[in-house]
Amino acid sequence: MAHYVKGVLIPREQIEKMVTELADRITEDYKDKEIVIVGVLKGSFIFMSDLVRKIKVPMILDFMSVSSYYGGTKSSGVVKIIKDMDTDIEGRHVIIVEDIVDSGLTLQHLKEMLLTRNPASLRVCAAFDKPDRRKADITAEYTGMKIPDEFIIGYGLDFDGKYRNLPDVCILATEGGNE
Ligand code: IMP
Ligand code: MG
Repeated sequence: MAHYVKGVLIPREQIEKMVTELADRITEDYKDKEIVIVGVLKGSFIFMSDLVRKIKVPMILDFMSVSSYYGGTKSSGVVKIIKDMDTDIEGRHVIIVEDIVDSGLTLQHLKEMLLTRNPASLRVCAAFDKPDRRKADITAEYTGMKIPDEFIIGYGLDFDGKYRNLPDVCILATEGGNE
């Protein structure tokens, strides 16, 4: 089935404002602390690079790669660790940076796993949130924007590996009706 970019949902100016607000909150909450920011690849890479440049506390940056989607637009519920981070997080203040929380299954799994490593604290910062689709009882401590139940692309988010480079968040539509 053919997919196409239906239109802009969140323009870049609005995203920038949202990122500044999140960064200011994190700077305030973690003042006098050092943090570890863990970006969940690949979707978070643009959001993370914008966010960390606005946070004004010392930090270590690292990445993980997990997979819960296999080329489609619906979560499989299967979460696989593809790349682990290198940093030892024991006793450290950790913030997971995600592109979007959808079913919440990815995040639930990740949080459980990272908590076994005994961080001093563990929070989540997600650029976007689709609360209507939640299956796991989880919310990010820092959420940029709540969005309706649409499949979005751009600002790091992909469909089938594509569209991550779009500077605005756009809606992906399917010819003959969206699922
Ligand atoms: P969850 O486990 O269902 O919460 O899925 C989270 C992951 O699914 C995100 O990190 C994204 O990579 C991907 N995802 C969920 N919704 C969308 C979307 O609307 N567009 C692109 N990727 C999405
Ligand atoms: Mg992701």
